Amino acid sequence: MSRATKGQWLIKDVSNFSDKLNLALNRFEQENVGLRQFCAETIFDAIFNTVFGQSDRNAPFNPLRTYKNFEYYHKYFNYMWLGLPKKFMPGIMDTLCDMCQQPSAEELLSREDCSEYIKRGIRHLLENGQTEADVIGHNLVMLHVNYNTFRMAFWVLYYLLRDAEAWKHLSEEIEELSDKTSLSTGDVDRLRVLDSIVQESARLSSGVFMVRYVTEDTMFKTPDNKEFLIRKGDRVAMYPPAIHKDPNIFADPLKFQFDRFISKVFYKDGEIVKNPVMPFGTICPGKRLALLQLKLFIINVVSNFDVKLNDGETTELDNTYHGHEVLPPTNDVQMTIKRKRENLSSLGCFS
Ligand code: HEM
Repeated sequence: MSRATKGQWLIKDVSNFSDKLNLALNRFEQENVGLRQFCAETIFDAIFNTVFGQSDRNAPFNPLRTYKNFEYYHKYFNYMWLGLPKKFMPGIMDTLCDMCQQPSAEELLSREDCSEYIKRGIRHLLENGQTEADVIGHNLVMLHVNYNTFRMAFWVLYYLLRDAEAWKHLSEEIEELSDKTSLSTGDVDRLRVLDSIVQESARLSSGVFMVRYVTEDTMFKTPDNKEFLIRKGDRVAMYPPAIHKDPNIFADPLKFQFDRFISKVFYKDGEIVKNPVMPFGTICPGKRLALLQLKLFIINVVSNFDVKLNDGETTELDNTYHGHEVLPPTNDVQMTIKRKRENLSSLGCFS
């Protein structure tokens, strides 16, 4: 089986996501709301229902309840990973138990619109003697990786809302799609302003460490010719955000520049930097799916809503979460959002 989500599976997921997103955006009627809350009720809702099949909003395992539980759980995620005792994380076990109130494996397998990767995962686990509890754990990991897309959506919209020029250029680019009723993945890939905005937001908000196990003794040479022995059995953590914020690669690295990635090549010490932005590390199989979902979300918001941040509303990246793939904001920001028309025009992606 291929490691990346691609081909017919990718298209099926993206098309399923388009339907769920359409439902979530159509249901959304508040005009004054936090940007993060908006993202939770729209893109996270749509992703959740794409992964598990359309959920009953009153069932214990539903998008908003899971979003709230994840908010709490992620605060302590690094400590859990480091193996600190539970007593330092009050309430964490109750939150985990709540997140485990999931539909049975049998029910998920019977849902027509449950994603193929969850179904395959469940079948694989059960065929190899794993338990219902293992299936629940696997489901939570799938949710965790998909949660990154929601976190990134917040930053893309936040940076866009603070940069009128970026919003204008993106609106013009999206306007060119106005004669289409559905998009192909190629249509989405051709949106260069959108791609640059997404890459720039990812550059700024990534907090990831890539951890690798060393399989043989290796001499590592730094650019200033220092040599280090990395021993077999060691673990190495690489930190892409150090590249993302390197002033020798990116001028004014802490500033959001919406067009930074349009037809640009980046250099360090006279040499081309091949991968200047690595928010997905090197082995994330969900990269293509996540980027398509994220871009479809932005396209649908920009084309259907007038949005503005309320006066004085700002936030920062929460640096206490470093190690998470995408950093969350320190606080939500309030915005005003109005539909441009009664019936939203839904731009989905179908081929
Ligand atoms: C914006 C969204 C996402 C971001 C920023 C992100 C980022 C990452 C990063 C940094 C890694 C570690 C890569 C490395 O060590 O080289 C990773 C691994 C992984 N991601 Fe993603 N990811 C995202 C969305 C997704 C989605 C949607 C899926 C599944 C549909 C997914 C599935 C996975 C899996 C299964 C791994 C573990 C791969 C392995 O260990 O072999 N990710 N992701």
